[in-house]
Amino acid sequence: MNPLLKSKRIGFIGSGNMAQAMIKGMLESQLTVADHLFVSNRTPGKLMKMSENYKVNVCQTNEELVEKCDIIILAVKPQDLIAAIEPIAQIFLDKQVVISLAAGITMQTLEKHLPQCRVVRLMPNTPAIIGRGTLGFFMNEPDEGLETLIEDLFSPLGSVMKLQDEDQFEAFMIACSSGTGFVFELMTYWQEWIEEHGFDPEVAKAMTVETFLGAAELAYKSPDVGLEELQARVASKKGVTASGLESMRELEIERALRVSFEKAALRNKEMARLLK
Ligand SMILES: NC(=O)c1ccc[n+]([C@@H]2O[C@H](COP(=O)([O-])OP(=O)(O)OC[C@H]3O[C@@H](n4cnc5c(N)ncnc54)[C@H](OP(=O)(O)O)[C@@H]3O)[C@@H](O)[C@H]2O)c1
Repeated sequence: MNPLLKSKRIGFIGSGNMAQAMIKGMLESQLTVADHLFVSNRTPGKLMKMSENYKVNVCQTNEELVEKCDIIILAVKPQDLIAAIEPIAQIFLDKQVVISLAAGITMQTLEKHLPQCRVVRLMPNTPAIIGRGTLGFFMNEPDEGLETLIEDLFSPLGSVMKLQDEDQFEAFMIACSSGTGFVFELMTYWQEWIEEHGFDPEVAKAMTVETFLGAAELAYKSPDVGLEELQARVASKKGVTASGLESMRELEIERALRVSFEKAALRNKEMARLLK
């Protein structure tokens, strides 16, 4: 157990999917103990489940949670975040660390509502549920102790990356968090094409998953080899793969992806304007 984390009481405002994934990861990795974890939620149903499944402390109000915790994780949907913190903003203390998981709520907005706290933006992605996430974080002021704490706190969920500024944070969010959704879109097309060639859906899904997993793992285990080189090793000149790749380039798959990334980034900016 990280000695710095050992003494910290960690609270989650919002007990939905991400809070549950994080609590599960933190407990399974023995990073902390259930007695040091606190949860609150808008409605009571999920709190009972949290208490039964993880034996964490349930708070009846967000206020009670803030009063009891050193680190407060804002795990509500972006559109609910301001309503959750605004009525209790004055009870946060300057020694408390607040970590927002929300897309579209900028550091400036968070600091406007909680000027007294040390605020961190953290973006997980869904593979965090199985400990294979990619998590990026950003904070305004450099703070080595806090950086180490964030890295240690979230490492059970996957690889944790510190980002230099909010532009990087937003690019990270599109590429890695929304990106997980984009990869599933591609995988769906893969599976459909395989099914059209007579395979059962489960087999087609397994073939798709194994292909993506194998390619990703090969790249992961070849740190000194670039993606282009790995691709060149599959495609011999004028061969089958080369022919498919040529078509992918003619059809401008890169352009389609770039436009989609930019569209997602635009939506993020729009949300940031609305959720101040
Ligand atoms: N899930 C992901 O893959 C993922 C990935 C990246 C980032 N995130 C971010 O993580 C955050 C949480 O996402 P999620 O998927 O866990 O959402 P979720 O499953 O919808 O959970 C959100 C929870 O917040 C509760 N809540 C809403 N307003 C509240 C308030 N005022 N006080 C206390 N609790 C309140 C909701 O309560 P009710 O039960 O009453 O609805 C709900 O249980 C979001 O900001 C999201 O953008 C999620």
